[in-house]
Amino acid sequence: MSSGGGRAFLWLPLNRLKVLKMQEQTIKELRNENDSVGTRRRLEGRRAVVTGASRGIGREIALALARDGADVVINYRSSDEDADELARIVDDLGEQAWVYSADVSEMEQVKEMKRSVEKHMGNVDILVNNAGINRDTLFSKMEESAWKEVFSVNMNGVFNCTRVFLEHLEQSSYPRIINITSIVGQMGNVGQANYAASKAGIIGFTKSLAKELARKGINVNAIAPGFIETDMLSGVPDKIRERIISQIPMRRFGKPEEVARAVVFLASDDADYVTGHVLNVNGGMYL
Ligand code: NAI
Repeated sequence: MSSGGGRAFLWLPLNRLKVLKMQEQTIKELRNENDSVGTRRRLEGRRAVVTGASRGIGREIALALARDGADVVINYRSSDEDADELARIVDDLGEQAWVYSADVSEMEQVKEMKRSVEKHMGNVDILVNNAGINRDTLFSKMEESAWKEVFSVNMNGVFNCTRVFLEHLEQSSYPRIINITSIVGQMGNVGQANYAASKAGIIGFTKSLAKELARKGINVNAIAPGFIETDMLSGVPDKIRERIISQIPMRRFGKPEEVARAVVFLASDDADYVTGHVLNVNGGMYL
């Protein structure tokens, strides 16, 4: 596991031929998608930090922001290769990427990340607090460590990044904080008391901060995804997956890019008068 390192995409070795072929295809698809929605790039000239961006929902958020014209800081904890691949795609889309490995639960690492971002990219305008973990088990069996670990990433990580990058946002003309919470924080779930409590905490945090920062012109919103097809869901047994799907009015799991599109909306000027809102992206599972 690496931590505390930052690098611009251009410095990376480009010797992974197989990966590059796959990427060419991805970039073509991304460009086509761009053509189909028109050429309006709502985030031109803005910079975003996305935490936990090496895979899953965070990866799609970073891509969607870049597609709409933003430069992105790709924060992640351990997967150098995934982060580098993503940076290459962002670069091919014509935007700047800065890759930085930092554990968001460690305040010192977050401060170091901010200094590195300032030095190599400048101040950021958009903070997307996406990094999150789960340590699921029935409460009667839940160890204190599972409780603390989840809170240290899901809540302390959000505090650390928001507290540290607030200085940038206060100087931005388009400041946005977007927190990724969860449907589980709204309706609870068996085996997820720690995760649900941390995600419910994010909702209270979002609303309080929205009230506090409105006078500074900083919009603070949250997105509450339902069940989304990512690594987080891949460990769930088939039987339980089927049971969950039967409870979703749209009868399917969501896609990471569907969450990403909601982030772009909240990051854009289209959401100028939206703050303190929790946007559900859940196929109708919780209304
Ligand atoms: P994932 O497990 O696929 O990705 C999580 C990302 O966070 C990874 O890049 C990981 O490296 C990073 N990360 C974890 N701990 C970190 C730390 N201490 N410091 C920096 N980065 C760290 O998860 P997924 O599914 O993409 O979830 C992203 C967010 O969406 C999480 O906050 C999760 O709670 C939330 N969410 C996910 C849902 C789902 O069904 N997949 C549903 C609702 C919310």
